[in-house]
Amino acid sequence: MAKRIIIDCDPGIDDAFLLAMAVASEELEILGVTTTYGNVGLSHTTNNALRVLDWLGSSVPVHAGVDRAILSSRVDAAAYHGETGLEAPEIGQPRRGAEAENAIHYLVRTLAGSPDKITLVASGPLTNLAIALRLEPSIADKIEQIIFMGGSTDYGNDSPAAEFNLLCDPHAAQIVLDSGIPTVMFGLNVTHQVIATPREVERMRALGNRAGRVFADMAEFFAKVYRERYGFAGSALHDPCTVAWLLRPELFETRAMRVDVETNSGLSFGRTVHDIWGLSGKPANAEVAIDANPDGFFDLLLTLLNRLN
Ligand code: BDR
Ligand code: CA
Repeated sequence: MAKRIIIDCDPGIDDAFLLAMAVASEELEILGVTTTYGNVGLSHTTNNALRVLDWLGSSVPVHAGVDRAILSSRVDAAAYHGETGLEAPEIGQPRRGAEAENAIHYLVRTLAGSPDKITLVASGPLTNLAIALRLEPSIADKIEQIIFMGGSTDYGNDSPAAEFNLLCDPHAAQIVLDSGIPTVMFGLNVTHQVIATPREVERMRALGNRAGRVFADMAEFFAKVYRERYGFAGSALHDPCTVAWLLRPELFETRAMRVDVETNSGLSFGRTVHDIWGLSGKPANAEVAIDANPDGFFDLLLTLLNRLN
């Protein structure tokens, strides 16, 4: 039986890769997509989720969530993803709108009413999930796992210390990490190993289908900042690591540890702190990805893109 998932995202180029891999997979059933502010504002991320899903031929419902963090001031990543968050003209505009029900209420209703546990995949700031957990704490019992992209065991990308998603809303991330729900964290330490180099981009293009061509173009667009700012050989495919792990856990090495987020202002605001030696005396609250197999990841990505038109 396919694993039932809800995806909370802020598309976003690498979020679009995540959506494509999940749609193409037969092992995952997407119940719904919820959107958050993040890479760009909520109206753009919601429109982009609808655009990508329509283009992929998926009629999964899309519910827009909150448009700002619980406490921190908003940051965005338009410099990486473009002004609208997804400069991909071939994808066109959606033929439908978002559902009337807000993402928070959708999450609470769906989880509370589900006889079985559901897995949550999160690729943006964790604000929607944190608010849903505060609104109805009992939904924690209905969540199998939260697989999220965010944080880093080493350096940051949006401040020297912090990764973008968690820097957007460190308080929300701490609520999720304190929830008692099993979490799996994909931070920069591992997503920076998954680089769409020119060779990988050529492999996408060589598939010869529409999906291969459009995702190759997106990876190239995304690569500009990665080359200029970080000196990388291409773009880092952060968000799809979550779905890749769900499909092929052997592609990543993980380690259980206590993770907390710096929620006080200052140099380390938004940074994840990793207690690998158990020094805090607190129990582990996350499986943290510490190593990736990029070749295996790209083989999986290519297999899935090849299934699309
Ligand atoms: C994360 O920030 C966003 O720009 C990406 O979509 C990814 O979720 C990487 O720090
Ligand atoms: Ca994202």
